[in-house]
Amino acid sequence: MCGIVGAAAERDVTPILIEGLRRLEYRGYDSAGLAVLNGQNNLERVRAAGKVSKLSEALESTPVNGRVGIAHTRWATHGAPTDRNAHPHICRDEVAIVHNGIIENFEALRETQLAQGYEFQSETDTEVVVHQIHRNMQGSGDLLAAVRATVAELEGAYALGIVSCNDPGRIIAARRGSPLVIGVGIGEHFIASDVFALLPVTQQFIFLEDGDIADIRRDSLRIYDLDGNLVERPIQRSELAADSADRGRYRHYMLKEIHEQPRAITDTLEGRLLDDHVLEAAFGPKAHDIFSQLARIQIVACGTSYHAGMVAKHWMETLAGLPCDVEVASEFRYRSHVVTPGTLFVTISQSGETADTLAALREAKNLGYAATLAICNAPESSLVRESDLTLMTRAGPEIGVASTKAFTTQLVALLLLTVATGRYHRLDKAGETAVVEALRRLPRSLEAALALEADIERLAEQFVDKNHTLFLGRGPQYPVAKEGALKLKEISYIHAEAYPAGELKHGPLALVDTEMPVVAVAPKDDLVEKLKSNLQEVRARGGVLYVFADAGVNLKSGDGYEVLRVPEVAEVIAPIVYTVPLQLLSYHVAVLKGTDVDQPRNLAKSVTVE
Ligand code: G6P
Repeated sequence: MCGIVGAAAERDVTPILIEGLRRLEYRGYDSAGLAVLNGQNNLERVRAAGKVSKLSEALESTPVNGRVGIAHTRWATHGAPTDRNAHPHICRDEVAIVHNGIIENFEALRETQLAQGYEFQSETDTEVVVHQIHRNMQGSGDLLAAVRATVAELEGAYALGIVSCNDPGRIIAARRGSPLVIGVGIGEHFIASDVFALLPVTQQFIFLEDGDIADIRRDSLRIYDLDGNLVERPIQRSELAADSADRGRYRHYMLKEIHEQPRAITDTLEGRLLDDHVLEAAFGPKAHDIFSQLARIQIVACGTSYHAGMVAKHWMETLAGLPCDVEVASEFRYRSHVVTPGTLFVTISQSGETADTLAALREAKNLGYAATLAICNAPESSLVRESDLTLMTRAGPEIGVASTKAFTTQLVALLLLTVATGRYHRLDKAGETAVVEALRRLPRSLEAALALEADIERLAEQFVDKNHTLFLGRGPQYPVAKEGALKLKEISYIHAEAYPAGELKHGPLALVDTEMPVVAVAPKDDLVEKLKSNLQEVRARGGVLYVFADAGVNLKSGDGYEVLRVPEVAEVIAPIVYTVPLQLLSYHVAVLKGTDVDQPRNLAKSVTVE
């Protein structure tokens, strides 16, 4: 999704802006641009459709330098990804802005501005903001006052960075709904949509709150809240090193992140287990009072995080004995609800800034849930700050758009939640001990699953010329199959669908032929014999099967079956372990196809618009 960088310094900021944009590339975008106030305090702008490297090339032929500037990567919503629609947008050579979010009342504002004589250069919703600031600057000439007046007229979500040649030396930043962070340097200040952009220049950050407006100069910083009061926001030190988002020896971030899973899971378990039990206090000081009163769980999330929720439903109902519902946030937020008393509202999100998930949480607060809990990978995110209880996944920075280690650490967090709530219901001491033992073994089980990579790389060749793939699973492996299909379509652009294997004969069987590979996840469990019958149905129609199964499942390669041996693991952690070979399969198919693995077309890492 869109990314913002800005800098006010005593040195040329263009290299800082470009490096910041590069570090935001992982969010997903389709054009980039920057504007600086040059030595004569004139605005100079360069924009390019495509990658940040295109912008760098454009800067080589048209260098721009200055000590105050703003920059942006745009993920198109209103208007195609062209040079003209790229940010910054400028009004009459006087005011420049970058914007993340969506202005919902842009049509009404545009009508008024057209009547006032403003000319529009783009098809974006953003352009109305720059004209409005320009208009509000007439008279006072004060950029801060003009931004304050403007945001009061905006409906929708925004993070904004604004500069003006009529009030130079200053960046005004404002946020509502979209995240924005201020980097505090030595005698210089920066803004960005997330800390990664600024790690090469500072480790000190201030996270703006919703409604805040910041008045930023090289050597001073003032922050005003929604009501215009001057406020102090704490400076926080990031533990992330500037190279924490480096690819290391891996060809792609995604591959690095797949291989980081054993470590990420070890980190996520750290301090959450004691001997043979799960520490309830890991969820926060109020956890005991809340968990001991629960009657039901409602999970809401998007994308891969939603698939984690689907696995958790199985755990909650089979292990914990707690009724559990799961819904995608974009649906949940726009319908009526009947809330059972004593229901815990759980959100799952890697970024903690996904617009629909955040909106669902805010909606839930008015619906009578017992409490809210966020499972999240971003400690400073809005989702974490607005929830009663939190459990951080400690996956570390995830740069590949296709989520991998964030997903498996979410599953670990959800299993901890299952135990911590389940002990007040069906889960007995022995059950808890068994889960804890399986969790402690999990990093080693994942290492064993990663060792399948060479075989999977070979397998990938069977998929590269296919247009469609079917994924099958049953019980908690059905969401794993869904996640496998999502990964494949996200990064290799092969159409992939997942079905609960029992549903095969109710439709998708009609699609099965030699050109449709069928992937099945088949650990030894109560449902595996039923799954094997479903696989026979595929085989009888000439379908080619690729089955991930352990030694306990009596299946052998040959006659239309290719069986990949996954290590035998406790049933409860099998969904986590079986996820890994499917991630590797998608990765290697995408590499063979030559797609942009880490930044697949049209997708964004952090979806901060609805
Ligand atoms: C985007 C990402 C997915 C992610 C989803 C939810 O679509 O590309 O990888 O699963 O958003 O994001 P969240 O940060 O809330 O987990």
